[in-house]
Amino acid sequence: MQGRDAEKWNSLYRNGEHASSTPAAVLELFVHLLPARGKALDLACGRGADAIYLASHGLDTSAWDISDEAIKWLEHSANSHKLKIDLQVRDVIKQPPESSSFDVIVVSQFLDRSLFPTLCKALTINGLLFYQTFIRERVSDTGPSNPGYRLAENELLELSSPLHIIYYHEEGTVGNTSAGFRDQAMLIAQRRQ
Ligand SMILES: C[S@@+](CC[C@H](N)C(=O)[O-])C[C@H]1O[C@@H](n2cnc3c(N)ncnc32)[C@H](O)[C@@H]1O
Repeated sequence: MQGRDAEKWNSLYRNGEHASSTPAAVLELFVHLLPARGKALDLACGRGADAIYLASHGLDTSAWDISDEAIKWLEHSANSHKLKIDLQVRDVIKQPPESSSFDVIVVSQFLDRSLFPTLCKALTINGLLFYQTFIRERVSDTGPSNPGYRLAENELLELSSPLHIIYYHEEGTVGNTSAGFRDQAMLIAQRRQ
């Protein structure tokens, strides 16, 4: 157990909230960008739909989350898919990934701005960051209400500026807001040096 954040998330998971079982759109839509082999990390994995997806695409996958409830769930899920995933109950702020340690890092619906410099360096050269999380300019009330946990306009691009941007998508409130991919930004970026 790792303090108040873990308590909060454990209780949400016990109550059946945040039970997403589908991988992040940024990963599914751009699955063709994944390397055929290598080390992948699902950071702040929750119940780990992204970790399951990465491992089932042949990547040597790790999944870290501060909530032991989430990790327990993912252990069960990995076993039922017959997948081997390195699971860790881990505070990713206190214990971020080491330099040059992953070929792919996926972050979905988690935001800690202070982590970005470390995250960019945690990729191997040519490694890919897949990031998707909530933005402030929204059309529904999904996601956190605290604007501190939501990205400002183009902020994900700025946070990832040490990397080479491959894809960025943020629709905001432009056009027909009943269509499209709303409320979140998606980014794929590559470490080149
Ligand atoms: C909104 S959920 C997203 C889970 C998953 N990535 C998804 O897209 O379904 C946010 C996750 O961040 C985890 N988390 C929050 N603070 C954390 C920290 N300091 N270290 C590791 N995980 C953390 C929570 O336990 C929770 O599982």
